[in-house]
Amino acid sequence: MCELLLKMENISKSFDKIKVLKEVNFELRKGEIHALVGGNGAGKSTLMKILTGVYKKDSGNIFINGTKIEINEPKDAKVNGIAMVFQEFSLVPTLTIAQNIFLNQEPKNRLGLIDDKKCLKKAQTLLNSLHIDVHPEETIDKYSVAYWQLVEIAKALSYNSKILIMDEPTSSLSENETEILFDFMKHLKEKGISIIYISHRMEEILKIADRVTILRNGENVLTQNSSSLTLEQIIEHIVGRELEHAFEWQKRDIERKEPVLKVKNLYSKRHNLNNISFELYPGEILGVAGLMGSGRTEIVESLFGIKSYDSGEIRINNKKVNIKSPQEAMNAGLALVPENRRTKGLILDHSVKDNILLPILKKLKEKLFINDKKGRDITEKLIKTLSIKTEGINQKVKFLSGGNQQKVVIGKWTAHQPEIFLMDEPTIGVDIGAKTEIIELIRSLAIENKSIVIISSELQELLAISDRIIVLKNGMVARAINREDIFSEEELQHAVQKG
Ligand SMILES: Nc1ncnc2c1ncn2[C@@H]1O[C@H](COP(=O)(O)OP(=O)(O)OP(=O)(O)O)[C@@H](O)[C@H]1O
Ligand SMILES: [Mg+2]
Repeated sequence: MCELLLKMENISKSFDKIKVLKEVNFELRKGEIHALVGGNGAGKSTLMKILTGVYKKDSGNIFINGTKIEINEPKDAKVNGIAMVFQEFSLVPTLTIAQNIFLNQEPKNRLGLIDDKKCLKKAQTLLNSLHIDVHPEETIDKYSVAYWQLVEIAKALSYNSKILIMDEPTSSLSENETEILFDFMKHLKEKGISIIYISHRMEEILKIADRVTILRNGENVLTQNSSSLTLEQIIEHIVGRELEHAFEWQKRDIERKEPVLKVKNLYSKRHNLNNISFELYPGEILGVAGLMGSGRTEIVESLFGIKSYDSGEIRINNKKVNIKSPQEAMNAGLALVPENRRTKGLILDHSVKDNILLPILKKLKEKLFINDKKGRDITEKLIKTLSIKTEGINQKVKFLSGGNQQKVVIGKWTAHQPEIFLMDEPTIGVDIGAKTEIIELIRSLAIENKSIVIISSELQELLAISDRIIVLKNGMVARAINREDIFSEEELQHAVQKG
């Protein structure tokens, strides 16, 4: 197991004179699962993009099996057996699994036409060898996301790759879906494939990784066997200081007299909502748990006017509302922190400041001129409170790291000061330090008497901040539980699985 497969030596990289990787060393052994962790903007994705030929390093060397190689473009990575699974799925839902795996590299017959039979046969052989239990002739949309992830990996491995890079593969998976993925990773490891695993879910790292490398501010601060590390040590190295435990729940007294939001029998055939009813009280944090596809995102999108519903009633401060667009939702006092920040939450080509001020532009303009100083102040304050890592308020959002983009989304809605926050996986892709900051931020919003609906597939997080939790199953509220009546994470997980 100790055979060295890959060595990255003294890798440096700058963007616009800012050094984001400083002489980083990284090694990977044959058949090893090596976790690459670090705060948002630490340089993880950049290091991996250098390895896969997306970016070019400024200096340093890369060796495979002791031989120095040059990676100048993605093709070079492929030739050297390096494959990366991206977080955004590249699969086409309406194509079969076989077609998806061999997309753009389809087996051809003698006439140069795509040979569907051969494609199917090759796919079956590949899937069998990987023990993935799916039917290659079926379209991928018949399967749950966990299987999408597996097919995505099969696709990456169809090039006979020896090194598999996974950048936050579990961020949209629930706990049992993650188990499926982990079992599969162990199987790949037995086959001698080496995996570089990036994740912000701390508890996963000790569970799955053989070794851990921690980057902080573009430097390798530690590489060590995971068996000789504790979670606290990992967190301390990531954050660079000790972290007080923000995951501890504190009981708060909520006065449940008049709900600020009342949802009654929300039904949508198309979006699979089956008579959802719940109430949200002033100052309350309501957690929403449930498996992928249980209707979590559909509820908040229906409330926010993105998705339509067939019947049911929504009341805000006891007034019936009929919200048909996000603008109407905002006017009614709602804000949505969406699940997919890249496509739904941000204008990537605009600056941090423009994104943060977007929802309140009208308010600022009402004073007859765009109040630039005020806008700058608001932005600067939010950058500070949320510790957003950016070169400044005018930096384009597309150049921020994943987690920092997420903070901008949250920041923009905080500036808008709505009465009700709908948050769909607000800490996805956010590092452990920032996660605790976001949890604190949500708590302080609740103390200011704002009401929050928060969806999360991380049960530990839900248990830390919710006053009450509803568990969804098949588009229905299967259970509504007061936080003080839940005694363990296992109990909640059981409820999520069984309903
Ligand atoms: N194309 C680019 N142009 C300018 N700066 C960039 C570019 N790509 C990355 N950066 C900067 O490089 C730093 C490292 O970013 P990187 O994406 O590698 O971080 P990360 O460790 O993957 O973080 P996260 O956990 O948030 O995904 C960040 O400060 C980021 O803003
Ligand atoms: Mg990244």
